Amino acid sequence: MKGLFITFEGPEGSGKSTQIKLLRQFLAERGHDVVTTREPGGTAAGDRIRSVLLDKDCGSLEPETELFLMLAQRSEHLKKVILPALKAGKTVLCDRYFDSSMAYQGYARGLGIERVRSVHEAFLPGFLPDLTVLLRIAPEVGLERARHGGAKQLDRMESEAIDFHRKVLAGYDLVAAEESDRFVIVEADGQPEKMADRIAAEISRRFEELS
Ligand code: TYD
Repeated sequence: MKGLFITFEGPEGSGKSTQIKLLRQFLAERGHDVVTTREPGGTAAGDRIRSVLLDKDCGSLEPETELFLMLAQRSEHLKKVILPALKAGKTVLCDRYFDSSMAYQGYARGLGIERVRSVHEAFLPGFLPDLTVLLRIAPEVGLERARHGGAKQLDRMESEAIDFHRKVLAGYDLVAAEESDRFVIVEADGQPEKMADRIAAEISRRFEELS
């Protein structure tokens, strides 16, 4: 059985981790060998880079610095974790990936979506996912969820102004419109189980197309 590379994207608090857990269960019950991972992170070095990216003590970083750190951790992650797993026939579910760089650094930070795409094409052959689930949520609602009712301190990215988070959502919408075949778009304000059913149905259809 050939595996698929599936990424989950969305603004802060869009409920990606719940959906990844539910999809993992669904696929495992149907005999798929599933690996779940996340960005920034996914490797020991990637996790260290993650702490720089998310640590509020690092203050504001230059947009290019942010992009290059994202690319650095992605290079490790892609070559050492994602591609080997796919080669072994596994399905990879990744919490954030390339489209986060497009929406956050390319659009919201203003580096340019096309420039972010071209740097990936130049340095990371085979980087594109087979399928991307975009969980859309209004930034105000998502940030409130990310705060867990005040129980969780917001990280460096989450602490950005609301305008930044609005741009992130607009960036995702642009990218998804450009590559509509790769994207499954889900409004993330509904019941998690209903959303999971829709995602599972779409992904089963893609697996059928492959076999
Ligand atoms: P994380 O805690 O994983 O966010 P969430 O729980 O919402 O998924 O933090 C990752 C943060 O890094 C998030 O704010 C998005 C940002 N990010 C980028 O800006 N560019 C990228 O390429 C990636 C992978 C993440």
